[in-house]
Amino acid sequence: MQISVIGTGYVGLVTAVLMAELGHRVYGVDIDEKKLAKLKKGRSPIYEPGLEKLLVKNLDRNRLSFSSSYEKAIPSSDVIFVCVGTPPLPDGSYDPKFVFSALESVAKNLKKYAVVVIKSTVPPSIGPSLKKIMDKNTSVSYDLASVPEFLREGSAVRDAFHPDRIVIGASSDKAKTILLKVHEKLPGERIIGDMLSAQLVKYAANAFLATKISFINSLAILADKIGADIDTVVDGFGSDHRIGKSFLQAGLGYGGSCFPKDTHALISYSDSLGYDFSFLKQVDRINDKQIDYFVVKIKNMLGSLKNKTIAILGLAFKAETDDMREARSILLINKLYKLGAKLRVFDPVAMANAKAILKSKQLYFAKNEYDCAKQADVLCLVTEWPQFKKLDFGKIKKHMKKAIIVDGRNFLPKEKLKKMGFSYEGIGRR
Ligand code: UDX
Repeated sequence: MQISVIGTGYVGLVTAVLMAELGHRVYGVDIDEKKLAKLKKGRSPIYEPGLEKLLVKNLDRNRLSFSSSYEKAIPSSDVIFVCVGTPPLPDGSYDPKFVFSALESVAKNLKKYAVVVIKSTVPPSIGPSLKKIMDKNTSVSYDLASVPEFLREGSAVRDAFHPDRIVIGASSDKAKTILLKVHEKLPGERIIGDMLSAQLVKYAANAFLATKISFINSLAILADKIGADIDTVVDGFGSDHRIGKSFLQAGLGYGGSCFPKDTHALISYSDSLGYDFSFLKQVDRINDKQIDYFVVKIKNMLGSLKNKTIAILGLAFKAETDDMREARSILLINKLYKLGAKLRVFDPVAMANAKAILKSKQLYFAKNEYDCAKQADVLCLVTEWPQFKKLDFGKIKKHMKKAIIVDGRNFLPKEKLKKMGFSYEGIGRR
């Protein structure tokens, strides 16, 4: 089939590459010429394991091309995926302006029936506004649909090719049949329904996962208070198949481009409908407070933080990405900086993005993990990069002023570190 993907950001680029790899002929459309130039050369603007290889492969096969021209891409397309950004507004809701302008350009260039799939995360009741824009700008027949994405950064390629489910929401059987065909080579359950429900699925998934994280973080604080071990607790209750162990990793809380934004948007969307989603507000509050809890842990070990040297290992919002959006490291660094600490920071891939965000602060951007640990009173693990587990901790200890580690992801080998003479603190870890 002939596919257009509007927006070559994170979701758009993965979708375009996936569709090409499935055998479709794909146009990636974007207004950012710089980004397009990179993509045409086979270079991915984002760090995502495995993505660049598939990008190059499908460019070479001529299944994938990039353009800023709607005129070129839209007329021949059977399916158009709209994957433009929906940045958050101050009240927590989404700004749909990019979706609106993308739809207008799509509509103006439609020459034959196509299914227009909204992949951007938008409030479910936006449907009538989208239809209005389409109808104002085209007389060609079309269907609107929603196929939410559940990709995790860092494992987006794997997630795209091995989805648990494909949720298709559309108003007509014709559109549903076309979308089933587009995705036919992919595994996973098919859930077919209306557009409103499909869009609510996306919010529900992210809000529920965020809830699991805030739940386990609250339980971890309780475990700290009584001297229980959260890892054992999770093994114990998570092995009940009704519960499961995933997304029960206690730590500094959730960040990234989705969970914070989507929980805020769902809260604000509910408010706008006259429903106080107080439960989710609490999930969000708990996540905010988790950074304070971590700072208190550091203070308990060091006393005043004024002029203390703190090494921060990991800046990206999670491992295997250079994405700094809503990274917990930013909040933590801001708090420690205000308390007068001297900060040495390191991340294996997010240094450039981190420098751009944290440039107003006098931080030392370290060359590597050992450089980061130099003269540190405490080393804080903030992002769970696998390479941090394999560090030569004897060398780290020699570089540090005090052998103290506070592990914000319950990730490092605590027994080994304790045996080596480190004072080790995790979150709810005994
Ligand atoms: C998430 C959803 O998982 C994905 O389905 C959706 O499409 C986009 O949002 P992503 O933001 O890439 O994906 O990362 P994810 O792995 O879900 O982690 C989100 C945050 O939660 C990270 O900051 C991570 O460190 C944190 N987290 C995750 C925990 O604190 N504990 C856990 O047990 C799991």
